[in-house]
Amino acid sequence: MVTEKAIVDVRSQLVEVARDILAHSKADTIRPASGTMKLDSRLYSDQANHEKECQNLFKKIPLVLAASCELREPGQFQTMQIAGIPILLVRDKHGVAHAFLNSCTHRGAQLAKGEGSKARFTCPYHGWTFSQEGMLVAITLNDLFGDIDFKDYGLVSFPVTERAGLIWGTLDPSSSNDLDTFLQGFDMFLETFGLDSWRLAEKRILDGTNWKLAMEAHLEFYHLPVLHKNTFGPNTSNKALYYFWGPHQRLIQPTDSKANLADEHNLFKIADKPDEEWPTEAMTRGEWIIFPNVSINLFYDGGPGILISQVVPGANVNESQTIQTFLTADELEGDARTKVKDLSDFLELVVSQEDLATSEKQQQALQTGLLPEVTIGKNEAGIQHLHKWINEIVSTGALDQLLSYPGKWTAP
Ligand code: FES
Ligand SMILES: [Fe+2]
Repeated sequence: MVTEKAIVDVRSQLVEVARDILAHSKADTIRPASGTMKLDSRLYSDQANHEKECQNLFKKIPLVLAASCELREPGQFQTMQIAGIPILLVRDKHGVAHAFLNSCTHRGAQLAKGEGSKARFTCPYHGWTFSQEGMLVAITLNDLFGDIDFKDYGLVSFPVTERAGLIWGTLDPSSSNDLDTFLQGFDMFLETFGLDSWRLAEKRILDGTNWKLAMEAHLEFYHLPVLHKNTFGPNTSNKALYYFWGPHQRLIQPTDSKANLADEHNLFKIADKPDEEWPTEAMTRGEWIIFPNVSINLFYDGGPGILISQVVPGANVNESQTIQTFLTADELEGDARTKVKDLSDFLELVVSQEDLATSEKQQQALQTGLLPEVTIGKNEAGIQHLHKWINEIVSTGALDQLLSYPGKWTAP
């Protein structure tokens, strides 16, 4: 629930950024970081460092697990793995979303596969059965287990919250990091998309290498006209403006390059109007990054759409998956449906054959140890920001430094 005051704050914060974008657009400038950043190559290749990231970052902070609308109906479930942890997401008959360790409490077998809808989950190994709420409800040949209390054999459950149309979970049930501390109100911006009522259109899962290499491609536009010259085109702007909200961020091209944006939602076409008339949609364009591994891209292609990209680490330093989830504001049919499928095919190809193919070669080279460090440019400020926050949180596993966050955008 967003309070009235929060809405006013969100709007004024959006207007402030929109004015800044327009000023930079007019002056043809960006705001670079104060310096370059050198990173030790072992950050991408060292297994011990990777395990520390999984332990102190991915297991300790609230993560986006899925969009709420992926589990629209009671009984709907899906499975995934993050940092080697098998996860079962399910919406129960009361509409509450749960995240469980996807592992039967008898002897640990995988309980559910893929996705679908189930009233109960029966283990494929010996048939123990669990409710949508994760309670053990039946044991095959119950007598042979003696006097066990079913209450002690529920699935391992992770804390889950639904916020801004997203399902968030923390993969260490003992973590004391709460979602509000983590977000510092960033969710109020995400709420403006209204994702609660959106529809799942397409979903793709792409294999990749180290999660940071895969994520970094979402954090700069420097590579767009070079790596993506044959897909996005050689004239795509390589400029990015960055706005930071604690560890989270936004990236925006200070140019009117989104030609298919409806005029009334195009900030550059309505810039002459007083800002009270700027619709929220015009001010939320661009890419939103939920630290550390989620990118949300708003697009407009025959209707409002969103691509959520989750970069989830594997158990090994050189493995990740990029989960692309395409949502549309409305249930689409006919040509509009085909258009979204075509766009999804296109973006799957761009990411898998250009971005992830590039990071695979980076990974191979960095793992040799022969290139001891890499350099992040002043124009790649979002990557610098990611690494700064990974560093801070991995060293402690805590979010204490966010408690004094001022609640406004900061810039490089
Ligand atoms: S491991 Fe699940 S019933 Fe035996
Ligand atoms: Fe890219």
